[in-house]
Amino acid sequence: MKKSAKILAVIILAAVIYSLIPVTCLYLKNDPVQYTNDQAADKLKANMGEFFEFIVTSDCHSGLALDDSASLKSIRHMNREKRFQKAPIDFVEITGDVSFRGSAWDYRIFNGIRSLIKMPVICAMGNHDNDGDGPNLFKKYIGKDEMSFSNRNSYFIVLNNIVGDLTEKQFAYLEEELKKSLAYRHRFIFTHKPPISPYQQSWYRPELSPWAYAFMKLCEKYRVDIVFTGHEHMFKNGNYGGVRYVTSGGGGIIPHIPAGDGGFLHYTVVRVYGDYVDYEVRRIFPPLWEFFAYYMWKDVFYFLKAALF
Ligand SMILES: [Fe+2]
Repeated sequence: MKKSAKILAVIILAAVIYSLIPVTCLYLKNDPVQYTNDQAADKLKANMGEFFEFIVTSDCHSGLALDDSASLKSIRHMNREKRFQKAPIDFVEITGDVSFRGSAWDYRIFNGIRSLIKMPVICAMGNHDNDGDGPNLFKKYIGKDEMSFSNRNSYFIVLNNIVGDLTEKQFAYLEEELKKSLAYRHRFIFTHKPPISPYQQSWYRPELSPWAYAFMKLCEKYRVDIVFTGHEHMFKNGNYGGVRYVTSGGGGIIPHIPAGDGGFLHYTVVRVYGDYVDYEVRRIFPPLWEFFAYYMWKDVFYFLKAALF
């Protein structure tokens, strides 16, 4: 092997080892203090003014090294968002599947990951957060699975739809909350499963369920600005009935969907400037060791599939 090739190989190997350091430190870290959704929302009460931002992510699926390593890299970028100095970033919303499979280990690791986010974090419940002893652990580490809170000129509703449905009681609750939200300039909903599949090639077809139609009609009636979801491990957005639907489910889990279709590590930054609301997706390059272990091969697979079949 030529000397230059050897030097390059050593540099790449060193960079790969370096990219493993954050996740190793996470596993050696002592348990940080836990806090609940209510405690996070309390921190927003003193916020004033009509210009702010918040971050939405989902499906970090904590507890698996591949996912945790990617989440940590994503968090590093989130914490650096403030460098743009445009508006305060008030909070981070994780729209469910914070744990890999709802185990005590998963929640413990999630608590460590959450503690690294420099903004208050509010979470919705995902279907995997309910696995095993998940419901008790969710209560312990996160608190309520349904809640509402206000921040400046906006109202936020967190819903639990992990079974892929909403009960009549939940619809009544949602409508009451939407009525309250009319006193605010903007309203946003955070829930795990989207009411309409953002990806036509997905096996997930919620739009065939009665709850999805009723939910979307309610959002249209009360002029919801954006419904944020996860569940599908990708970024995809759409506009139906004047309501924007954003699926931002690439918060750490290794995505199986092609990168070109939205299957990449990312989070979404939402900007509220008075009457105006928009968002940007931030695509994050995965940790180098993970790129070589998984991401690279995924896209090689899809490239070959497209080229050969
Ligand atoms: Fe998920």
